[in-house]
Amino acid sequence: MCGIIGYIGKEKSLPILIDGLKALEYRGYDSAGVAIFSNGKIQVKKSVGQVKILEKALKNDIDLVSHLGIGHTRWATHGMPSETNAHPHSDCQNRIFVVHNGIIENYRELKEYLKNRKHIFISDTDTEIVPHLIEDFLKSNHDFNIALLDALKMIKGAYAFAIIDSKNPNTLYAVKFSSPLVIGIGKGDNFLASDPSALVGKTKDIIYLKDGEIAEITKDNINVINFEKQKTSPEIMRLEWDLEQAQKGNYAHFMLKEIFEGPEIVLSALRGRLKTKENLVKLGGLEQVADKLKKIKRLSILACGTSYYASLVGEYLFEEIAKIPTEVHFASEFRYREEPFEKETVAIAISQSGETADTLAAIRKAKEHGLLTLGIVNTVGSTIARETDAGVYNHAGPEIGVASTKAFISQLTILTLMAVYLSKSNGHSSNNALFQELEKIPEKIKTILDKCSQMEALAEKYKKYENFLFLGRKYNYPIALEGALKLKEVSYIHAEGCSAGEMKHGPIAMISEKFPTMAIVSQNSVLEKMFSNLEEIKARKGPIFAIATEGDKEITTLADDVFFVPKTIELLEPFLTVVPLQLFAYYVGTKRGFDVDKPRNLAKSVTVE
Ligand code: F6R
Repeated sequence: MCGIIGYIGKEKSLPILIDGLKALEYRGYDSAGVAIFSNGKIQVKKSVGQVKILEKALKNDIDLVSHLGIGHTRWATHGMPSETNAHPHSDCQNRIFVVHNGIIENYRELKEYLKNRKHIFISDTDTEIVPHLIEDFLKSNHDFNIALLDALKMIKGAYAFAIIDSKNPNTLYAVKFSSPLVIGIGKGDNFLASDPSALVGKTKDIIYLKDGEIAEITKDNINVINFEKQKTSPEIMRLEWDLEQAQKGNYAHFMLKEIFEGPEIVLSALRGRLKTKENLVKLGGLEQVADKLKKIKRLSILACGTSYYASLVGEYLFEEIAKIPTEVHFASEFRYREEPFEKETVAIAISQSGETADTLAAIRKAKEHGLLTLGIVNTVGSTIARETDAGVYNHAGPEIGVASTKAFISQLTILTLMAVYLSKSNGHSSNNALFQELEKIPEKIKTILDKCSQMEALAEKYKKYENFLFLGRKYNYPIALEGALKLKEVSYIHAEGCSAGEMKHGPIAMISEKFPTMAIVSQNSVLEKMFSNLEEIKARKGPIFAIATEGDKEITTLADDVFFVPKTIELLEPFLTVVPLQLFAYYVGTKRGFDVDKPRNLAKSVTVE
């Protein structure tokens, strides 16, 4: 998705903007651009491709004395990737420059209206109407703020704008509606970004703008008003992420670094929450709604992508541990269905970014129907975190890799804790075995990571295939889905996740010597069933790569290759079976020559529907 960065203050703006754009690269983009106020006018540079190309193009200008600027990484929606379509965009006079995230739904209509009023457009973007619209209102009203407000009244859609005006060299404008935008508060300077991770290392004090807010930012002051011109009092939040967490360190890719963070991620999600001695789970973020939670009859989990697959594991956990009927919805589907809502249903949104447009819309729908809403969110202060009634933070640190890995591990941890928290057994000794095993998970993940070279060698063998079936049952069914998604995302191999029991109802048709199966075959209540499925695959000459439990001798007679993981109790198996699949996707992707941190066509936080 697109990224926005803005700066006003005592430092030179250009290096800060370039730094910010680099920090936003992970979100996925195809072109980049900056507009800076320098020598009494606004200067613009854009380029197609990576930020380093833009940086090179700016090389001679990098020392320009500029203390105000905006930058953007564009992920094409309206119009192909090109310099002309790259942001910033400006009006006919080259006075007002705008960068934009989101989509302006009525841009065709507005473009027609403005063309009839003699405005000249040069790009195919929806964004370009914004500076022209402001310019148009400035003709009848000389106050920039009023012209901006009038323009906003005409715009429909989702947007975050950063705007500079050559007649106001001391002001950076920010507008938010349904697309995230964060102000970073500095000392003698202020920052603007679409994603707080771009502000790591610059400031820890941030303001999340709310929908329908406009900020007028100078180097020493931030004035926020709403679209009704009333002054609002934004809350200043503390961003606890540090620079090291947002850097690759000695790892070749963020994806690998984040897979290796797995053990620490589990520990930090458990910290202060798992009270083994008291057999108790304590979730401070849910205390305020604890009474309501005692009356739960049903849980509806709303999420997308990898967070959706973690939710599917959650469904098994909530039903087994807490005995609460649970269903999981793709947020994008939940929004549009017309199901009757039962009273005492609680909706849980799961989101790493806390900004996913579909998940946000789904949780808003749940609220409209009077449901209590909870969030499992990684990004502190994000929109979903703010809009849910209560929730639990992941504390996983920034996830930079586009393919989500550590967030998934963290979500599994929180879901396990939440299932116990919502159960009648919270505080009873019956949880003893589960808690003790949960505490061993970080160490067990570590033993898997220690064997990464074994997975690397297996990836070398399997990288030649163009198709893959991923099979699992019960707790490992969602892991098969997640394993297939990871492989698709970073290696572009067609991969299909399937519940092993469903295989003979269709997917078995694909099996051949050219179509390998990645089978998750843990020593659990469905082991025999998994073996039967593998026999069926073997009978059709399908190559089998199994993720199996240490000590399982039989599997070696069925599978061509086996990667062993330590034994754990069935409901915690996903923690250990997903890590080899994350490693597998990583190694296959890199061995096929791809930059796994920048998967094609994908974006990190999906803030458009
Ligand atoms: C896959 C991936 C996506 C996200 C999905 C939801 O690797 O990263 O599928 O999981 O876009 O994002 P969040 O969790 O931020 O709502």
